[in-house]
Parts: sequence; C-alpha cells; structure tokens
Amino acid sequence: MSFAPACAGVMHMPKRAAKPSRLTDVFFRHMVGNMRNGVLAIARDGAVVLVNDEACRLFDLPPGASLVGMPYGEVLHGHPDIVRVLGGAFDMVTLPNRAELRLRSTSTVIGYTLSLVRDEAGTTVGAALFFKDLTDVEQIEERERLRDRLAAVGEMAAVMAHEIKNPLAGIEVMAALLRRKTRDNPDAQTLVTEIINESKLANAIVQEVLAFVRPIRLQLFPTSVADALNSALTLVDGEAARGATAVTLHVPTDLPPVGGDYHQLTQVFANLLINAYQALAGRGHVHVTARLATTEEAGALVPGGQTAAPTVVVEVADNGPGVPADVADKIFNPFFTTKPKGSGLGLAIVRKIVDAHEGRIDMTTTDGRGTCFRVTLPVAPHQHGTHH
Ligand SMILES: Nc1ncnc2c1ncn2[C@@H]1O[C@H](COP(=O)(O)OP(=O)(O)OP(=O)(O)O)[C@@H](O)[C@H]1O
Ligand SMILES: [Mg+2]
Repeated sequence: MSFAPACAGVMHMPKRAAKPSRLTDVFFRHMVGNMRNGVLAIARDGAVVLVNDEACRLFDLPPGASLVGMPYGEVLHGHPDIVRVLGGAFDMVTLPNRAELRLRSTSTVIGYTLSLVRDEAGTTVGAALFFKDLTDVEQIEERERLRDRLAAVGEMAAVMAHEIKNPLAGIEVMAALLRRKTRDNPDAQTLVTEIINESKLANAIVQEVLAFVRPIRLQLFPTSVADALNSALTLVDGEAARGATAVTLHVPTDLPPVGGDYHQLTQVFANLLINAYQALAGRGHVHVTARLATTEEAGALVPGGQTAAPTVVVEVADNGPGVPADVADKIFNPFFTTKPKGSGLGLAIVRKIVDAHEGRIDMTTTDGRGTCFRVTLPVAPHQHGTHH
C-alpha cells in the first residue's frame, strides 16, 4: 500500500520529507492518537505499547507517552475492571466483541472490543483494547425509555386524578357542613378546618397532574406578552406569599405579539413567578423583562437552522439563593422538587407549554446570587408579513 501522496497532502509536508514507510508510520500514529475511540495496546509481557488521547481522558491518565513501557497493571491500577479484561486477553478462547462494562472508578459506561495483535508469523505479540464512552448513548436511551414510561404513567395518572377529584370534592363539601354543625365546639372547628385545607391542597395537586398529563391543544393567536405577564402577576398575587418581594415589569410598548395561547402563556409566567417568590421567601426582588430579538446573537430563535426569526425574549429573574449545580439539570423533570409541599410539576408544565409554542426555555443561575428563567417565543407570523 502506498499512502505517500495523500499523506503528504494531509500533513502539509514536502513530498520528499520522508520515506513512504515513515510517513505511513506517522500517519498511523496521528490516526490512532486522534481517534474518537479509546485505544490501549499491551505487549505479550504486559508493557503498555500504545495509549491514545481518548484512552487517557476516559481512564483519567497522564499523557500517553509517559506511560509507554510501564506494566499495564500499574498504569491502570485505578481501574481493576480493565486490568481484569486485559489480564484474560492471552488466555481467552474467544475474545469479547462489543462487550460493555461500567468503570467502577468513574461510573462511566464503556463499550469495548479486545483483539490480539499477531506478527507476520502468526505469533501473538500483544493485545489491543478498543473502547468507546457510551455515557451519551446511554443517556439518549434512558431519555427514550423515560418518555415511554411517562406516557404510560401519565395515562394512569390522568385516570386516577380524574377519579380522585369527585370524592375529594365530596369531602370538602361534607367538611363544610360539619363545620356549620359544630359551631359551639372550637376543637372540632379547628380539625374540620384542617380537613378542608388539606383537601384543597390535594385538589390543587390533582389539578396540576391533570394539567401536566393532558395533551396540549393550542390555539395560537397573536397574543400580547405584556397582557399575559400582567395577568400572571395578578393571578400569582392571590396564590403565593409575596411578602416584601419587589417586582418590576419592563415591556416595550411596541413589542410585537407572539403566536400563542393567552391562558397557557399566563400559566407559564405564573409558574415562574411563583417559583421566584418561593425562592425569595419574602425578601428580594424579581425583575420581569421582555424584548424583541431579531438576530441569533441577541437570542432570536433560528427555526430549521436557517435564518433568525423575530422572537420575543421574556426573562423572569430573581436575586434568590440560586439553583445548586447538582439540582440544575433536574428542575424540568416532572415530579422533581426540593420543596416539602411541592409537586415538582411547575417547570415540567412550563416546558411542555413552551415546547408546544415552538419556543425555548433555559435557566441561568449563580449560587447565592439568583436565578433567571428565559422564555423565547416566536413572534406571531403575520407580524412580519408571511401570513395574512
Ligand atoms: N427561581 C428559582 N430559584 C431557585 N430554585 C428554583 C427556582 N425555580 C425552580 N427552582 C427549583 O426547581 C425545582 C422544581 O421547580 P418546579 O416549579 O418544577 O416544582 P416545585 O416548585 O418544587 O413544585 P410545584 O411548582 O409543582 O409547586 C424547585 O423545587 C426548586 O428546587
Ligand atoms: Mg414551582
């Protein structure tokens, strides 16, 4: 085989820089070094012959060159699972092809293939382990499994929520009657009031579950973001203890309407405001702003990866405690909550509604400094002349 001309081109070397065999050598070294799979090869005596960048990254090793010549057991002492696999290489009758294991040291899942290295005479001179980090693949599969599971669980939750609603309403009505009949017994009154409050809470949770599992049927009309924000602020005032929290709202008067469902958008902003008030626990401030973005840099949506579409960017920012890093990637999961009485559906509903609007939601947070939720929504189509 002759790699010379192609290699010379790829590596920007003068054509006569080296003999083809050396070029081929260099080429192979670069190829293996830059592979997106991990490669680790050992000689028959157990000395490491080759370890590429990806292998060093996955096994958390110092740069490969310093490891060459060392016994593999020593190099990989932090990864007993891999030592075991390599240890069996020369004794196994059939070597594993497409096997998987979870590194106990880092909890990374790797998929691997083990091959023997033979020389021209067919003598085994070493073994090579090829492997790949499967964490991302696993996460995708996990998400798909979760989606299926959620669909099934959602259906069941919808049925249950529906069935619980009626007896719950019954309990509330009868407790109210009981309260009237026990006017002269203050102890009983206190208990009955408790019963009523608790069933109200249960009812609110049922409503939330129903809102979450119900498929969204959106009626998109040009909708004023300012109106939805104002309505959310009013709605939330009745629901959450705002205490001394200061709220400011800045929306330019010429902000174009978004293509949206007024009630659903109100619910989105209400959920974000409730979370902000709860995070602030009665002190601090919430800044709500909306602006128009027309370029990607300014935060506009780029549907289909083509050109930026006019977009309204709404931000709900608080100066509360922030979201801890280990919590941040879970906050949109249904039923994830850090609150004793939370259902963890607020943000899951928010994301579902924003998705249905073909918008986007993201969160930025600084520990101890606050949290900002940003909702981006496409401007109503006929506002920029594509629809009449
Ligand atoms: N503004 C915020 N500041 C700090 N943490 C937040 C903020 N908003 C959300 N979180 C975190 O995200 C979690 C999930 O929020 P989400 O609204 O989905 O559920 P919840 O508020 O706990 O319950 P629910 O909204 O159903 O009453 C919260 O429990 C909280 O830990
Ligand atoms: Mg919430």
